Amino acid sequence: MGIATSTLNLAQGKLQVAAPYLIEQTWADYTPEQHAIWSELVTRRMPQLRQHACREYLDGFKQIGLREDQLPNLTEVSALLQPRTGWQSTPVSGFLPADAFFEMLAARMFPTTTWLRSRDSMEYTPEPDIFHDVFGHVPMHAHPVFADFLESYGKICARLTDPQALERMGRLFWFTVEFGLIRQNGEIKVYGSGLISSHGECTRVLAGGCEVKDFNLDAVLNQEFQTSEMQPVLYAVESFDQIYEATKQAEGRLA
Ligand SMILES: [Fe+2]
Repeated sequence: MGIATSTLNLAQGKLQVAAPYLIEQTWADYTPEQHAIWSELVTRRMPQLRQHACREYLDGFKQIGLREDQLPNLTEVSALLQPRTGWQSTPVSGFLPADAFFEMLAARMFPTTTWLRSRDSMEYTPEPDIFHDVFGHVPMHAHPVFADFLESYGKICARLTDPQALERMGRLFWFTVEFGLIRQNGEIKVYGSGLISSHGECTRVLAGGCEVKDFNLDAVLNQEFQTSEMQPVLYAVESFDQIYEATKQAEGRLA
């Protein structure tokens, strides 16, 4: 039994509904072409992100050891991340049903896909790949408040059964984790994974191509969105404490 197998067994032992979706990442199987695609994706994003990503994202990127020249090894990422915030980047087979997804967030395991987009879809993939999941999401998990927020979000959603309540919580996720903005030193900075990992959408938002409203929990819970279209309205928070507090309040709003 290799190290990866025992890590997989350990993770499976902590989960119930999500256990069947866990896989191993066979890092050695990535081809030179795939490492080159990763490198191109990261190299293309970094100049804009160094200027316009929030500082917590940029700190996290370094802290979890992401590199421009090769795909991340999730065991190594988790080994750097876990001592900081208890989060792991846990390989899964693909899209997870909601209950499995929430169970993993509640256990501080981020469901992470291991496949990488091909050269003909550098800008957009309908389903998340390792570039969206690791480059887009995981650096934020090194920040203690964001880490607490995301676990709390998973725990609250895991307790919900009403489809309407889940839909409203889905909007909270969308307008924070996926497409969130934050004000820092008088400027709008990006932290949402959909903006971090998409050059086109991020450029459009920074150029004023969408309305930016101050974050408001009730407004977000009521704001419908389309996953496949550019976002017409996004929300900016003042701090990550704000989304942590909002998530706790959200549970009361849904009862
Ligand atoms: Fe995402």
